[in-house]
Amino acid sequence: MSKISTQKLQEMKEQGIKISMTTAYDYPTACLVDQAGIEIALVGDSLSMTVLGLDSTVPCTMEQMIHHIKPVVKGAPNCLVVGDMPFGSYNVSDEQAIINATRLMKEGGCDAVKLEGGAEMASKVKAISDAGIPVMGHIGLTPQTVSKLGGFKVQGKGEAAARKLLDDAFALQEAGAWGLILECIPEQLAKLVTTKMTIPTVGIGGGRYCDGQVLVFHDMFGLFEKFTPKFVKQYMQLSQELVKGLEAFKDEVRSGAFPEEKHGFAGIEEEELKKLY
Ligand code: KIV
Repeated sequence: MSKISTQKLQEMKEQGIKISMTTAYDYPTACLVDQAGIEIALVGDSLSMTVLGLDSTVPCTMEQMIHHIKPVVKGAPNCLVVGDMPFGSYNVSDEQAIINATRLMKEGGCDAVKLEGGAEMASKVKAISDAGIPVMGHIGLTPQTVSKLGGFKVQGKGEAAARKLLDDAFALQEAGAWGLILECIPEQLAKLVTTKMTIPTVGIGGGRYCDGQVLVFHDMFGLFEKFTPKFVKQYMQLSQELVKGLEAFKDEVRSGAFPEEKHGFAGIEEEELKKLY
């Protein structure tokens, strides 16, 4: 396999081949995502909730993003690795957006960045793209600004909201975004955006007609149990399995069933050691 490029993803849209994308936050998960042939590994700022145990994505920092992007780049050499720009790292000015997107690419090593917001972020998207950094947009439910949106709810409902979302999509495409995440919007609206855009759309709660789908790794495998949105499909329930394994370990440590002789090392006999003291 060779490294997936944004050009390859564009071709996939044109050929009607669906794109798959999942989050990855560390080396072992990145290796799995890469091995499965997933096209895009997203180091999402969702890591602040799924990995760092925080209540939202808002506190996520540039340093945390860079720290997590590095092992994913190492573990997923074939995926397009997208680094999320954390809240407050791009909304001050075009210059700030370029500086921080450059840091994610230069210090983290990712292939592209992603930022949240519609037409109001178009100048940032243009600035980053003009600086030579592939940038992905993210519209609909944007978790970084969830308190402004009034909570985790479906966006783009009703004519005015749908029109705004379509305008946002056009503005980001025009600004140079190579792809768009459509989060938590009505299926028919996501279908319309997907048809009207020349760039690929990747849905999360955007229904069946997007050019691709993205899920958060910890949601897909039952590793994040605080809440599970309706749009998540759980492919495995690993947390219960892991707890079972940990309980078995504890029982065996208590009973002495673990470790067995085969888990230890030879090298000197007890009798010889006795001579030492
Ligand atoms: O941070 C993240 O994981 C994301 C996905 C929800 C698309 O932005």
